Amino acid sequence: MLCAAGASRAGEEPVGVALGAETCGASTCHAAGAPWPNSAVSQNEYNVWREKDPHAEAWLALTTRRAKAITRNLGWGDPTKARQCLACHAYQPPADKVEATFDVRDGVQCETCHGPASAWLGVHAAGLYYYGENLEKGMFPTTDPQKRADLCLDCHIGNERRFVTHSMYAAGHPPLSFELGFYSWFTKTNPENRAGYAHFTVDDDYLQRKPWPFGVKVWAIGQVIQARRILTLVTDPKNGPKGLFPELALFECRSCHRSQKGPGVPNVALPRVKTANVLFASFAAELVDHGLANRIRADAEAIRTASQEGWEAVIAASARMKRTLDAVEAKLEAHDFTVADNKASLRRIAQAYLSGALDEYEAAEQAVLSAGSLVDELDRMNSLPPADAAAALAAMAQGVAAFKTATEYAQSDVRASLGAIARIVAR
Ligand code: HEC
Ligand code: HEC
Ligand code: HEC
Ligand code: HEC
Repeated sequence: MLCAAGASRAGEEPVGVALGAETCGASTCHAAGAPWPNSAVSQNEYNVWREKDPHAEAWLALTTRRAKAITRNLGWGDPTKARQCLACHAYQPPADKVEATFDVRDGVQCETCHGPASAWLGVHAAGLYYYGENLEKGMFPTTDPQKRADLCLDCHIGNERRFVTHSMYAAGHPPLSFELGFYSWFTKTNPENRAGYAHFTVDDDYLQRKPWPFGVKVWAIGQVIQARRILTLVTDPKNGPKGLFPELALFECRSCHRSQKGPGVPNVALPRVKTANVLFASFAAELVDHGLANRIRADAEAIRTASQEGWEAVIAASARMKRTLDAVEAKLEAHDFTVADNKASLRRIAQAYLSGALDEYEAAEQAVLSAGSLVDELDRMNSLPPADAAAALAAMAQGVAAFKTATEYAQSDVRASLGAIARIVAR
């Protein structure tokens, strides 16, 4: 059965046309009240996205008082007309690549992540579900950790075309945080309830069709790609110094805004480049190559030293670290990850936090989000006795809840959370 008339049209460019969320959500397709009897996928993805997924409201967020206050402070007009805001809060294919059914108000809709549907809708709606064939026709490979990381980070950190600048933060934009595994599954406001947000179900049937899309491999690769993305923005000439400073949003917020108690940051010519993910990338590298892990740490030290010399030196040092991260990514991609890798990573993160190396807000937040991803996999794969899995999940929720405000977090709760998880996985 076809869900949309004339879905795969002859003579079309391989780059598809966006049909809009309503097309995917036709009641016989992804908005069924109940799963199809013989269907591999649940078929209710649209309903879950519409009702539970914050992406469905991403454009609506631009109509709120908060959004209007942000653009007013920036001296801009209506946020729903502002190119800089729409870049992340909506899907914006070129005008000649959208059907009349497409609606920008759907925000971050199906085709933003799965690709414009016209190219593959025909095959994929023909009744049977061949994932490989969908991909060949141009469906975006959301199961691939590297591709997924790049996709999500385009909005959750930014790229050369979309970025939350320091002026946008100063105007009131909320801080961005991200961890690939955690954000694919959970929201921070409701860490216990993954099923409540995710519009897909990873069961035995899913795993027969596709690789397991989460866990230690996704965490490790996600950390490396996230660390590299920040360095890519550092080396982007657009973000270079215009007056005294380069784009301030590239630096650790708390190296200027010291609202948090804790150890101070050494006084340097430039504030510290955001490098929380770099530490985690070095933990991931330890799973495959200690030499590379040490090189990441040496490169990070070189970036810090370079900030005393000036921006040119920072860029050169950042480019060096990017090459190290490329090498780590290649090794991680080839590595066969095990339960032991997962547990070793959890112990490593806990040990680093408990020794004080991750006290800064952003690093501490990465620690609990990472632990969440890793604990989730141990639970899903039945790698822990049931009582231990329940205790680890409860500890994870306690860690996430420690980050209630954007400037301060409860250190004692993070200690308790990561300490408990480390004890459980040491058993
Ligand atoms: C680089 C991508 C990006 C850009 C550019 C961007 N945003 Fe956002 N915005 C986000 C993300 C991601 C979130 C969610 C943050 C989170 O919860 O981790 C968000 C959250 C918000 C929220 C809070 C939504 C809520 O439900 O609480 C508002 C309001 C907002 N943005 C308005 C704007 C406005 C206005 C602009 C333009 C000045 C803008 N954004 C530009 C990515 C972006
Ligand atoms: C923010 C990105 C994003 C948006 C928006 C999104 N998806 Fe997904 N979708 C994913 C990811 C990530 C997965 C999990 C990996 C995979 O199976 O490809 C997934 C999985 C799926 C699956 C596979 C389920 C299975 O059992 O194989 C379907 C079907 C799906 N999405 C449909 C939709 C529909 C329909 C919409 C819009 C109503 C939508 N998605 C919106 C990212 C997204
Ligand atoms: C086109 C830009 C865009 C892309 C691509 C994107 N997001 Fe988002 N995401 C947003 C915006 C904007 C918000 C804030 C929506 C709001 O609150 O109104 C958001 C919110 C979220 C939230 C809710 C945060 C919270 O705790 O409330 C999660 C989780 C999330 N995104 C995960 C992902 C993942 C995983 C991917 C990749 C598969 C992804 N996003 C891809 C723009 C994007
Ligand atoms: C190099 C120092 C520096 C860095 C790094 C920096 N800021 Fe600022 N920030 C300032 C200064 C100076 C002001 C006041 C002038 C202005 O509004 O630009 C300010 C103002 C702000 C304001 C307006 C409210 C206030 O406290 O005055 C917010 C919100 C803000 N910054 C958020 C951030 C965030 C989020 C980051 C990290 C992504 C960050 N800043 C990084 C120097 C910095």
